[in-house]
Amino acid sequence: MEKDRIKWNKRYIEKNHSSTPSDIAKNFYKLAPKGRSLDIAAGNGRNSLFLAQKGFMVDAVDISDLGLKNLEGVHPGTNRICADLDLFNIPENRYSLIINIKFLSRRLFPQILKGLVPGGVLIFATYMEKTGGNKSSMRRDYILMPNELLREFLSLNIIYYNVSSAPEKGDHVALTSLVAINNQI
Ligand SMILES: C[S@@+](CC[C@H](N)C(=O)[O-])C[C@H]1O[C@@H](n2cnc3c(N)ncnc32)[C@H](O)[C@@H]1O
Repeated sequence: MEKDRIKWNKRYIEKNHSSTPSDIAKNFYKLAPKGRSLDIAAGNGRNSLFLAQKGFMVDAVDISDLGLKNLEGVHPGTNRICADLDLFNIPENRYSLIINIKFLSRRLFPQILKGLVPGGVLIFATYMEKTGGNKSSMRRDYILMPNELLREFLSLNIIYYNVSSAPEKGDHVALTSLVAINNQI
């Protein structure tokens, strides 16, 4: 949505965002066979760049052209795709690794499953309502329900699942993380 682009461009102008890759990317990328990777809502490309440096060809998708600008001319393994993920469709059977950090689009869940090649790895971490109900001030569109991530990707071989605190989002929100492998042939 255009309003997302404006909102996030403003954030990327006003504040420096970390360029350090996520721990979960660093800890689990090795499980994925080398090939194409998709970074969903890549932001400033911190994880895209990391994965490109590790040998993946990375499609970095985000609505913020200013976020993606950080990747300009930085590494030949990154492919910047400025697109609205409310409309973007993930190609089927394409990616060895799909990473989704601090972004939620439920519409993409089935597409993520189909987008992984056999043996492909999903690394997903985002915010979750801690105790059910709507106690957090975050809109339900932006926040997972307890166990939702686990349920959505149960058809994959889940090798890591964790819920940790997210003090930056207040008492009712946690960070939930999942790593899973597509073992289906
Ligand atoms: C919290 S940031 C996370 C960025 C990155 N995954 C990271 O961990 O550094 C959320 C990102 O989602 C992007 N975003 C929000 N709405 C979007 C949409 N409709 N389509 C594509 N990207 C969107 C924003 O531009 C922003 O870069």
